[in-house]
Amino acid sequence: MKISPAQRVKGKLRVPGDKSISHRAALIAALARGDSQLRNFSSSSDCAATLDCLGKLGVRVERLGNDVRVRGVGTGGLSAPAGPLDCGNSGSTMRMLAGVLAAHEFSSILTGDDSLRLRPMRRIIEPLELMGAQVASENGYPPLRITGRKELRALSYELPIASAQVKTCLLLAGLHAHGRTEVVERTGSTRDHTERMLRWFGVSLELESEPARARADAVSRCAVNGPVSFDGREVRIPGDFSSAAFLIAAAALVPGSDLEIENLGLNPSRIQLLDTLRAVGADIEVVETREECNEPVGTLRILGSKAFDEADCALQDDAAADRLCRSTTISGSASAALIDELPLLAVVGTQLPGGIVIRDAGELRFKETDRITATVTNLRAMGAEVEEYEDGLVINGPVKLKGAVLDSFGDHRIAMAFAVAALLGEGASEIRNSACVSVSFPEFFECLESVVER
Ligand code: S3P
Repeated sequence: MKISPAQRVKGKLRVPGDKSISHRAALIAALARGDSQLRNFSSSSDCAATLDCLGKLGVRVERLGNDVRVRGVGTGGLSAPAGPLDCGNSGSTMRMLAGVLAAHEFSSILTGDDSLRLRPMRRIIEPLELMGAQVASENGYPPLRITGRKELRALSYELPIASAQVKTCLLLAGLHAHGRTEVVERTGSTRDHTERMLRWFGVSLELESEPARARADAVSRCAVNGPVSFDGREVRIPGDFSSAAFLIAAAALVPGSDLEIENLGLNPSRIQLLDTLRAVGADIEVVETREECNEPVGTLRILGSKAFDEADCALQDDAAADRLCRSTTISGSASAALIDELPLLAVVGTQLPGGIVIRDAGELRFKETDRITATVTNLRAMGAEVEEYEDGLVINGPVKLKGAVLDSFGDHRIAMAFAVAALLGEGASEIRNSACVSVSFPEFFECLESVVER
């Protein structure tokens, strides 16, 4: 994909349905009794992999455009698949579905593409084995052979790493277990879509967040008393904030921009990017919010900030200049909350007078590619000064990026983060291997082009 610099980002748009919520809606609807209608289902290939696996497990799934009808089989009602279940590139599909398969008394094999087969699975294998399932793997990596057990043992489990996929895996297993399955998070709660979706389907959960001095110290507990059965229902899925993030950053960074994004998921556990961008001077307004299917949804308006305009920067008063010149640091629980947005924030960091420091983000090395090395390689190609650490990176800003030949390394979020960087560059850039955006946001390049003015 060739991308040339932008003059402005202007217009009004919607992004496709949320990928995280769509996975959960499909899995939970499959375990419900009777039909569920899932509206505005994600167009991503990751969520298509979840639907495909459910089909192979005996769930009737009909897709009509963005709407998906799932005929639920009830908890424990899946049937043995005839062959391996291919999760494609989707870690969410593999980790969440594993929790469901752990409670079914047949053997199944979960596999995926070259990238997924390099992603660590011990984080789900250990607790699922404690619950009584057998999970064979290649030294903690896929393919996984899961031999489930009908009467899973309930478990109280403290997550050793902040991961909403692992939390979801255990809660879905817990729906089938006998007794109280509890997941404890010590570094603040990860995204809570599973909790919200289960409650939408009428499953009662015990949720507790201890008051803490700061979000980073918060202990969250979530428990389900199994076994549970519940009925299907309609789910309306909001736009995906993690997809919108690229458009938000593009509009915030290009002076003179004015972008509105409607029907966007604004779950507090997903939108820390807004605070981070506002702290460095971005002008972002939540125009309207409402609650839909237990999720906050609304419209955002982003104005291209003067804070990023060099000419205007010189006119800032001392206090504003001081605030902008301090380097921005993302570490601790903020790195976990911003995990999908960190490559994008690295790009943003190149435009900040104080640059950006990203640490405690070692998990980035275990995503669809090693996102630290991929980000560093591409930023250097564009002329940025970057130091790489095992758990993050440090960028000196501001820098005028140059157009360059960049690589997605097969990772959708790297491709999209560098499409934003390309808008800021001097001269055109080329992103190799850009088709991987379909993993989360197949319409990304058309969406971007529809609002970029040159
Ligand atoms: C996701 C959780 C995150 C995130 C991924 C989607 C989810 O992964 O990176 O894109 O939907 O629960 P981890 O749970 O591994 O941090």
